[in-house]
Amino acid sequence: MPALARRMSRAKPSAIMAVAEKAKALKAAGRDIISFSIGVPNFLPGDHVYAAARQALEKDSGQYGSNRGADALLDAFLGHIEALGLTGYTRANCSTGIGAKHILYNLAEALLDEGDVIAFPTPYWTTYVDIADICNARAVTLPCPAEQNYKLLPAQLDAALAEHKPKVFLFNNPSNPTGMVYTREEIAALAKVLVKHPETWIITDDIYNTMIFDDIGYHNFVHVEPSLRDRVIFVDSLSKTYGMPGWRVGFMAGPEIVAKAHTTLNSNHITNIPEVTTAAAVAALSGPQDVPRERTLEFQQKRDQVLAVLGSVPGLKCPRPQGAFYVFPDISFAFGKSHNGTRINNDVDLCNALLEAKGVACVPGSAFGEPNALRISYTCPTAQLADGIERIRAFLTELA
Ligand SMILES: Cc1ncc(COP(=O)(O)O)c(C=O)c1O
Repeated sequence: MPALARRMSRAKPSAIMAVAEKAKALKAAGRDIISFSIGVPNFLPGDHVYAAARQALEKDSGQYGSNRGADALLDAFLGHIEALGLTGYTRANCSTGIGAKHILYNLAEALLDEGDVIAFPTPYWTTYVDIADICNARAVTLPCPAEQNYKLLPAQLDAALAEHKPKVFLFNNPSNPTGMVYTREEIAALAKVLVKHPETWIITDDIYNTMIFDDIGYHNFVHVEPSLRDRVIFVDSLSKTYGMPGWRVGFMAGPEIVAKAHTTLNSNHITNIPEVTTAAAVAALSGPQDVPRERTLEFQQKRDQVLAVLGSVPGLKCPRPQGAFYVFPDISFAFGKSHNGTRINNDVDLCNALLEAKGVACVPGSAFGEPNALRISYTCPTAQLADGIERIRAFLTELA
């Protein structure tokens, strides 16, 4: 049999899906399982989104559409980013894709040649490494442990940019897996460093941009350093904030040359986003915003609920997330201890033992490049959340 392409030896199935599959199998076998593994919102978009989709279906043209995205969709996206303070962009600065994941793959193809460096902070969203691997780019990770609240420090960024001269710096705010959100001052300090390194493109994967708590607001390098506009590419999606992961709609806004390259890749890969999806996306972005707003408040309360319980576990360090729907406690105090005779040497052992003993599925931090932690995605129903977090607390306090 002929061989697969060499790049397939570098492509790995998602580590997060592996945990989710194991939890699903145990559930199917009759176990009482609570899954905190998958990062999906537990809500659907407002009725107006479905009404728009139905209406579009009734007058569907059945034709191919624009490679960049329908004008109505680009305009709705422009309205959305204007509300985020990203002003002065036009349709020519934008392009659309099948979710942010597809946008990120397109951008990697558009910006990275084989062997080029792409730098990003650790903990990172798992797919960043996979994208680098598949494109045969070299990933340089910038470790941001719990001691620095999982946030990148300006001096650290400066040193990495000076040493590795990456073609792309990939930044994620709010963060998956940590839920951390950068303040305006923190963004300004990082932006000052970025100004010093003009050879680097900057991708800001900010798909949780409206899911921010404690009134700290969303901040982007372009807000504080408008001169970076020529190099910053903002990535967005409807998946998390609008409860539409399966609709597969993502966006980018940045320099015209990048938006054009992205659109050219669309013409070769996907051609266009379907008409019905486009109508639903326009309605989500430009219609009433109460669903995303209410859900953000609900997630903020759930964040508080999780932190209140985890805070009572001696030895556990848990930086306080301010966005998205993840908590990322540092569980390294547990390494070397045992649970009912099962020794915990690392994050994977801990997640396996937790699933076996208490029926709670979390994702080991090593999936995100931080083996001292685990990720809790807290989008499940509130009653289940209380039960699941209590089981984690019990497990951790039973370690000896
Ligand atoms: C940080 C981050 N970027 C991008 C994505 C991909 O989102 P989409 O569903 O739009 O492809 C995710 C999904 O989990 C994410 O957490």
